[in-house]
Amino acid sequence: MNEHTFDINNKKIYVAGSEGMVGSAVCKELEKENCQVIKTPRSETDLMDKQSLDRWMSSNNPDAVIICAAKVGGILANQSYPVDFLYNNLIMQCNLINSSFKHNVKKLVFLGSSCIYPKFSPQPITEETLMSGNLERSNEWYAIAKIAGIKLCQAYRKQYNCDFISAMPTNLYGPNDNFDLENSHVIPALIRKCHEAKKTNNDTLEVWGSGNVRREFMHVDDCAKAIIFLLKSFSESEHINIGTGSDITIKNLVEMIKKIFDYRGNIFFDSSKPEGTPQKLLDVSKINKLGWRAKINLEEGLRQVISGLKEENFY
Ligand SMILES: NC(=O)c1ccc[n+]([C@@H]2O[C@H](COP(=O)([O-])OP(=O)(O)OC[C@H]3O[C@@H](n4cnc5c(N)ncnc54)[C@H](OP(=O)(O)O)[C@@H]3O)[C@@H](O)[C@H]2O)c1
Repeated sequence: MNEHTFDINNKKIYVAGSEGMVGSAVCKELEKENCQVIKTPRSETDLMDKQSLDRWMSSNNPDAVIICAAKVGGILANQSYPVDFLYNNLIMQCNLINSSFKHNVKKLVFLGSSCIYPKFSPQPITEETLMSGNLERSNEWYAIAKIAGIKLCQAYRKQYNCDFISAMPTNLYGPNDNFDLENSHVIPALIRKCHEAKKTNNDTLEVWGSGNVRREFMHVDDCAKAIIFLLKSFSESEHINIGTGSDITIKNLVEMIKKIFDYRGNIFFDSSKPEGTPQKLLDVSKINKLGWRAKINLEEGLRQVISGLKEENFY
């Protein structure tokens, strides 16, 4: 065991936001390990409430904390609820990071996101690019909060030698995603629209933006595996990217989803609607060199999610 490793055997691991897409995938992976997974169900604990979180931490004493709780959403949600994206994320993460420090948590993982890198980052985006240019305006509220979270982890490491790390996952999709069209990210929004267009025999499916922007997408199960890999083996002040290393145009993504649904209608790309930064592909050479690589191919992952939704009678 070297100084960079954290042995999770017989440890209590607290997953904050365990009911969310990432949190539930992390819990599912951790449950395969020899550790105790502990949670704060949303109905019982409001992570905005510092006193109740501190009380919970005193009685549960986790050895490690993985922060998957956050206010998360797509472009429209970011534009409509700037206070929630800035204030709620700042308060929630400050509460969790400070409470972890006070309760002597040995390892903490904080999650940033690829969308907090500068809008015109050179591609693929290396870890060093953070804060080197202007942010994408549509989600600057979320980005500023997340950057503050990464800095707070670094500050605790510098001032108190805490083993608090940050990871930057790319765009994720998977089970437990948010399919509400007002708040959702691109993949759940497209799945929902395509399903509805097929069901109502609508011969045109409308998609926001030109379809030419490029995005990277990773299945949340791959992300969960990466987070646990980093929990066990990564201990640096600087954040680390988590991604697949390849991207796709929105046009091609729509074609892939159309094919899975066997939807034969036309696609109307509405260029008057915002579509965000032109390309977003993470440089994942750092995590690859440490020995971790994403495994789930995009089309296979999408098929799995879409058939899971059908089985659950989600639609
Ligand atoms: N999804 C992505 O594509 C993506 C990409 C990169 C990074 N990430 C990061 O991964 C993390 C998790 O994202 P996600 O996609 O899993 O989001 P999610 O599905 O919305 O999960 C977030 C969880 O946090 C909970 N939460 C929010 N406010 C809370 C509060 N005040 N008290 C207690 N719980 C609260 C939510 O509960 P409610 O649902 O009840 O509000 C939800 O269970 C975030 O830090 C995000 O930045 C996500």
